[in-house]
Order: sequence, then structure tokens, then C-alpha cells
Amino acid sequence: METTRPLGRSGIEVSALGFGCWAIGGEWQAADGQPLGWGKVDDEESVRAVRRALDLGVTFFDTADTYGAGHSERVLGRALGKRRADVVVATKWGNVFDEETRTLTGGDDSPAYLRRALTASLRRLGTDYVDLYQFHLSDADPDQAALLRDACEELVREGLIRAYAWSTDDPARAAVFAEGPHCAAVQHALNVLTDAPAMLTLCEEAGLASINRSPLAMGLLSGKRRDRQPLEAGDIRSRPPAWLRGFGDGSGADPEWLARVDALRDVLTSEGRTPAQGALAWLWARSTRTVPIPGFRSVAQAEENAGALEKGALTAAQLTEVDRLLGR
Ligand SMILES: NC(=O)c1ccc[n+]([C@@H]2O[C@H](COP(=O)([O-])OP(=O)(O)OC[C@H]3O[C@@H](n4cnc5c(N)ncnc54)[C@H](OP(=O)(O)O)[C@@H]3O)[C@@H](O)[C@H]2O)c1
Repeated sequence: METTRPLGRSGIEVSALGFGCWAIGGEWQAADGQPLGWGKVDDEESVRAVRRALDLGVTFFDTADTYGAGHSERVLGRALGKRRADVVVATKWGNVFDEETRTLTGGDDSPAYLRRALTASLRRLGTDYVDLYQFHLSDADPDQAALLRDACEELVREGLIRAYAWSTDDPARAAVFAEGPHCAAVQHALNVLTDAPAMLTLCEEAGLASINRSPLAMGLLSGKRRDRQPLEAGDIRSRPPAWLRGFGDGSGADPEWLARVDALRDVLTSEGRTPAQGALAWLWARSTRTVPIPGFRSVAQAEENAGALEKGALTAAQLTEVDRLLGR
């Protein structure tokens, strides 16, 4: 397998694996106290993990202004340092938050806010351009999104961003952004347990990259949650919001999901892969347009996930076997 993939029709090449920087933002929460981070993190370990990923050939990093209420962007910017020009940085806008209290306070889909949010992200990242700027409000009004798409085209003309995308699971919304010539991708949920055929068809037709969030089903596909261990307070998985699936009421992983992970174990661990590497290999086999962006919390996870690149994609026969095992 090629270890790089095109970022849609943008002319930008990225490593076939990106690194998702949500968890390294550390703790933040909704106004009602709902945790929105992944618990405590060690920033020095996050910096070491990003640099290890760079050494292992990873050139694509996905973050958002809101992760850790600005903290993820700062940590990523610091970790990249002088190597920023060698990588493709994706961040997001649309959520409004308080950096002091690390609290999400709402959303803003206005073009005026888009510009303010970009200025703030550039400052936190320590850069003067964003490679891929993504609209984070997944269910926003499509008519309003068309205005934002046009505003993004203007930002491309000004050299402040190189390309843009919508982070949404709705193909009809993604198609609104795809009408803009510099729309390069859609970010959406996709992993071996949750397929997204309609979105992949749109990516094929519109020439977009499919950037895959939660490629490890938020850790479940690593196979390490077999014992249903409870998660620490401050970790979003300990008090799952309605959209977060697989962690039941938060007391541990959902037994039904764990059974499905167990059923896939042999096929995902073929050719000496770890279960997490097998989950990434499934995504590369699913489409030539996919770019999974697994989250990470340590150098060890960075090494394991980056190590999936050299093992490549599953075979077509293994894809069929996965569908059979899951009754699809
Ligand atoms: N646009 C959006 O709205 C949106 C939504 C979700 C995610 N995203 C993006 O997508 C990225 C990835 O999605 P995600 O963070 O939801 O979930 P994910 O990538 O499916 O899972 C990441 C988590 O799995 C565990 N993990 C990672 N590598 C591992 C390994 N090798 N072995 C064992 N455990 C491992 C880590 O948590 P533990 O060690 O704590 O288990 C890590 O935080 C995010 O970082 C973010 O950039 C975007």
C-alpha cells in the first residue's frame, strides 16, 4: 500500500494515517458539567508522541479549536515547532468556548465568527495558515453552511487556509460544501463496526478525501476494554452523551460491542497486526479515499498506530470475512 494519499482534489498529499488530537487537549466540559475531554493528560508525553509520529512518517494532524478549549492546538503547535512546514495541519471552528474555564458555551455558524475563530487558531497553533479548515457543527443549517463555504473560498484566496471541509455524518450536508472548488474532504465517523457507504459514495463522486474520525471506536477496537473496566471521571466515555455509542451508561464498555470486537479478533490481527492496527487496515481497504485519524495519549500508542502504515490494508477477502462475521 502507498503510505501517502491525496487530500481529495486539493493537490495536497498526506500520510495515509493522520493523528487525531482531541484526547491531548486534556479536560474540558459542557456548561452542565458533562466531560468533553478524555481525562487528564501529560503535555510532555503528548509532545513526545507527536514528534515520534513525525519521525515515523506521519504528516497529517487533526485538531479543533475547542479540544481542551484551545489546549490541543497549543500543544500541537509547540510539538511541531520548526517542522510545521513539513506537515498538513487540520483544525476546526464553529464551537464557542471559554478558554479560562475550559467550558463549551455554544456554537456560531456566522461568517464573522469563522474569521475570528481562524485568527485565534492561527495564534494558538503558532502558524500563519491552516492547511485544512473544517466546520465542526455537524448538523448546521445547509443554507447557512453555503455562506460559510463561500467565506472559506475567500480565505483560500487570502492565503489563510489551503482547503476546507465539513465535519458531518450527513452526505447531503457534505455535498453542499463539495460545491466549493477548494473543498477537499469530509470528516465523518467510520470504523470497522460502523460503516458509512453513502458518504464513501459521495467522496468518490465529488473527489473528496474521507477523513475518518473515531477509527478505533474510541478505543474499543484496541481490544483492551474486554474487562469492562470503568473509565476515570473527566473522561467523556465515563458519562457518554447520546451520540457516543459502545460505552453503555459509562460503567464500562458495552458487552454487545465487546462481543463484536472479539468476533473480529482473528481477522484484524492477521500478519502480526495488533487489533488497533487491524482496525486501521480495514479502513484503508474499505476505500482508496480514506485517511483514518486515530487519537493517541502516549508515545506507545503513537508508535503502535504509526506502525500500521507499513503493514498496509486488509485484503478484499478479509473485508468480505469481516462483513460475514458481523452479519452485514
Ligand atoms: N469532527 C468531530 O466532531 C470529531 C469527533 C470525534 C473525533 N474527531 C477526531 O477524530 C480523532 C479520533 O477519534 P477519537 O479520538 O474519537 O477516537 P479513536 O481514534 O477511535 O480512539 C482513540 C482512543 O483510543 C485509545 N487508543 C489509541 N491508540 C491506541 C492503541 N494503539 N492501543 C490502545 N488504545 C489506543 C486512546 O484512548 P485510551 O487509551 O484512553 O483508551 C485514544 O484516545 C479525534 O482525536 C479527533 O481528532 C472528530
